[in-house]
Amino acid sequence: MSFVALPLTKKLNRRYLCCFFRLSTLTFSSSSPPPQKADSTDSPLWSQRFESALNPVIAAFNASIQFDIALIEYDLTGSQAHVQMLAQTGIIPQADADAIYQGLEQIRQEYRQGLFRPGIEAEDVHFAVEHRLIELIGEVGKKLHTGRSRNDQVGTDIRLYLHDHIQHIRALLQDWQQALVDIAQDHVQTLIPGYTHLQRAQPVSLAHHLLAYFEMAERDWQRLGEIDQRVNVSPLGLGALAGTPFPIDRQATTDQLGFVDLYRNSLDGVSDRDFAIEFLCAASLIMVHLSRFSEEVILWASEEFGFVKLRDSCATGSSIMPQKKNPDVPELVRGKSGRVFGHLQSLLVVMKGLPLAYNKDLQEDKEALFDGVITVKGCLEAMKILVKEGLEFVTERLETAVGEDFSNATDVADYLAAKGVPFREAYNIVGAVVKTCLSQGKLLKDLTLSEWQQLHPQFAADIYEAITPRQVVAARNSYGGTGFEQVQAALTQAQERLNSKTAPSA
Ligand code: ARG
Repeated sequence: MSFVALPLTKKLNRRYLCCFFRLSTLTFSSSSPPPQKADSTDSPLWSQRFESALNPVIAAFNASIQFDIALIEYDLTGSQAHVQMLAQTGIIPQADADAIYQGLEQIRQEYRQGLFRPGIEAEDVHFAVEHRLIELIGEVGKKLHTGRSRNDQVGTDIRLYLHDHIQHIRALLQDWQQALVDIAQDHVQTLIPGYTHLQRAQPVSLAHHLLAYFEMAERDWQRLGEIDQRVNVSPLGLGALAGTPFPIDRQATTDQLGFVDLYRNSLDGVSDRDFAIEFLCAASLIMVHLSRFSEEVILWASEEFGFVKLRDSCATGSSIMPQKKNPDVPELVRGKSGRVFGHLQSLLVVMKGLPLAYNKDLQEDKEALFDGVITVKGCLEAMKILVKEGLEFVTERLETAVGEDFSNATDVADYLAAKGVPFREAYNIVGAVVKTCLSQGKLLKDLTLSEWQQLHPQFAADIYEAITPRQVVAARNSYGGTGFEQVQAALTQAQERLNSKTAPSA
């Protein structure tokens, strides 16, 4: 029977009665090979100084295996590099290192096949692996932990984990950017009201609007790359807090594991979580950006705006109101952003009062980090699908929207300013024009030429063309503006920037 299938209380009682680390009876499914008996299975890995068993409630409280099992592949890789180095430096015989390396590889296979599923009695992933190793290869397995501590080990694991996931998230950001570029291609000429204060301000190209999110994602991508330089630093071999008396070669494990640098101070290295905080900060900004886009989609999909329709593959219905089609995806993304901000806050608070060096508070870093990673990945994936296949812009509605307001008023002032009227004076004249129009229920385009000329003699027949929404957008051809030529060039450049990135795909 698999231990993990037992109810928690039963597991704990069993662990309590059986004493520590009877993993041979507790952690393997019936299909796993019979574990080799090693004498350490009857004692806790953490020393013989304790006389009585741990209270089961405390054991469960103390354990992190429920979530740090996510580190297992990185833990195995880190241990394999460590043991190779122990042999290279002559600290342990090569034959012992080979046996340990193979044992760790076997654990990897058992884990991948679902045969190794340590329960709560293992305390954490590091103990679970070490214990299983001793079960598999016997006494020699006890040499693995020479010259290191769980403190530098866990630091190594989470850095390897985060470095790996940062590559995935950067690839997902690129996919998100590609989805934005793809949809923007179809909408260079589509106009949409541009807002300030959520009041209609000036019309813009829809592609320009979408590319604003491309730029945010570009900074997110760069930021993660910069942070990764500080994530990808090795603490392995720093020991519990002060280094080790063994003649280890930290540069060798640094190189072997693909780290770009190594920590220079053991007290700092075993207790630093700046890199995780930086990551959660970058993750929070990704969520801010996704959440802002989500908010717009939610508004656009409302009856009041009507700018976009949600396709069936990305919308849900109501259990009671048959007419409803709900924007659950952007709502969830907007909602989930709070979780990631919360993780950032929680890790800052965990860190702020910690004396050097390792403190068990640091075990609290993992759930924040893991959930931050999972949430950001899930949101990027869902938003990419939403943009790729879930949005149908209602172009007729957008066309009317940009023609039914005074968002061309600035262009009337610009028209006069271009004819030599000082801009502030032109601005005041147009303010008066808008006021007159409002009182008469008219739009600017409805004024007759003689009405225009009464307002200012410089107005001529070309005023009508100058204030069409399309001309208003086309005219803003300054670098970075919404003019169609600029937007087309920005799109080409965006695609080139994407093509030049070499990060592996998720
Ligand atoms: N599970 C622990 C953590 O996540 C591993 C390190 C334990 N170190 C110790 N000195 N108790 O932080």
